[in-house]
Amino acid sequence: MNYQIFPSAEVASKAIALEIRTLIGRRAAQGRMAVLGLATGKSPVFVYRELVRMHREEGLSFANVVSFNLDEYVGLDPFHARSYRTFMHEHLFDHIDILPGNIHIPAGDLPLAETRSHCAAYEAAIEGAGGIDLQILGIGRTGHIGFNEPGAGRGSRTSVVHLDEITRADAADDFGGFGNVPSQAITMGCGTILEARKIVLMAWGSKKAEIVARAFQGPVSDEIPASYLQEHDNVAIYLDAPAAADLAPPDALAGKTACFTGLR
Ligand code: GLP
Repeated sequence: MNYQIFPSAEVASKAIALEIRTLIGRRAAQGRMAVLGLATGKSPVFVYRELVRMHREEGLSFANVVSFNLDEYVGLDPFHARSYRTFMHEHLFDHIDILPGNIHIPAGDLPLAETRSHCAAYEAAIEGAGGIDLQILGIGRTGHIGFNEPGAGRGSRTSVVHLDEITRADAADDFGGFGNVPSQAITMGCGTILEARKIVLMAWGSKKAEIVARAFQGPVSDEIPASYLQEHDNVAIYLDAPAAADLAPPDALAGKTACFTGLR
């Protein structure tokens, strides 16, 4: 695993935004689309802020970007204040020049009978775009990536899943109480995520320290879906110091390659 530990989430997020800008530029020079897998939650907020700044101040264009979001709550109107669609538009899409037709977010408001074909179509759209070039991820305290909770298989595909109680508790404030948090979501599967050519996972703050250490220095197991990332050959883990606090130092990582770089 390749860890990079930064002095703050803001500094780390600027490095991630730079990586995204480099990819977009490389693809533009090739006359190709850059395919981004995008995440929600608090973790990527600074990344999106920096991308918006790059668009406004440095002319970064998203005209050659296709995006696929990881997940969406089931049962929420897409325009609900807490839907991931709303989040993405508020934090990124409304402020850049991405073409609306190139934005993909799972639809959480479909009748159950239509959900299965929607999930299959989502997978087909990713494949049709040529696969995801760069997937950005946060990590939940349960070890989820997207909304793949403990028990999710390594090969799982986009589907409707039940949310863990811890995940719902973490979202309770946003929804004005635990009881208002949806109990289901549509999420890209672990298998879908692991097909991305490059994955960047970010975690900030001491609340993530324990799960970061368990996911990336513990055994690969369906108890912690993020641990599957250990088996991907192009993953970068961006951490601030509090989120890295429980990691063993490099020389304690028997059999695992680790590189602690970045600004300490
Ligand atoms: C959310 C999302 C994940 C996100 C994670 C961590 O519920 N479904 O994609 O990475 O939980 O969220 P946060 O970044 O707010 O800590």
